[in-house]
Amino acid sequence: MADDDEDVPIRVDHRDPATARAWLDDTRRRKPFRQAFRAAFGAALASHRRLRILELGSGPGELARALLRRCDVATYTALDWSPAMHALAAAHLGDLAARVAFVVRDFRAPTWPVGLGTFDAIVTQQAVHETRHKRHALPLFERARTLLVPGGLMLYCDGYLVDPTAPLAALTLTRADQPRTLERAGFVDVRLLHDEGNLALYRATNPRDDGAPA
Ligand SMILES: C[S@@+](CC[C@H](N)C(=O)[O-])C[C@H]1O[C@@H](n2cnc3c(N)ncnc32)[C@H](O)[C@@H]1O
Repeated sequence: MADDDEDVPIRVDHRDPATARAWLDDTRRRKPFRQAFRAAFGAALASHRRLRILELGSGPGELARALLRRCDVATYTALDWSPAMHALAAAHLGDLAARVAFVVRDFRAPTWPVGLGTFDAIVTQQAVHETRHKRHALPLFERARTLLVPGGLMLYCDGYLVDPTAPLAALTLTRADQPRTLERAGFVDVRLLHDEGNLALYRATNPRDDGAPA
């Protein structure tokens, strides 16, 4: 058994086109409640105008499609290390794909934020655990925060650990540690937006210079 401090090896490699397709089909079948999460992401951003959005681990573009249809989006940057996932996303988005900048980048690399620009919101769903160890969530959030305007929003959704004896326990933060890790990364006003199927979605704010949330 792997040491709990070691990164968990990749078992499902979404860079493989057949694996990416199979993941999407399987996830749609097993997790229909993800639709409710997409609605909650949209509701959190619906009152904002001319949003510059970055999505981390954007995958097959389901969240991008929901946000582009519901929200006032000026720019949408979809970051994923899988060209196969970007191809699925382009197909899923159809005409909306022309409004998306698809970036192939590894968010485990410390330099991943370089040159991406500045954003009003960073969104991510079921991707942070792909850093391959829960201890990598904190630096990922810290680096993401450097790309947000003061008052900008981080919308973070991922699975949480239910059974600490599970074989892949090192991948996943507990439900209690998810908001704590956002706070440790410097976010304020961390709020739970939706919790279903052992996934939770949070809204966290990049503080203004005076520390106020907005
Ligand atoms: C479980 S899928 C979730 C996809 C999408 N967020 C969704 O919920 O439909 C994880 C995604 O993270 C991407 N990913 C995994 N490791 C990554 C890395 N190191 N850097 C960037 N993207 C990565 C995968 O290619 C895949 O698209």
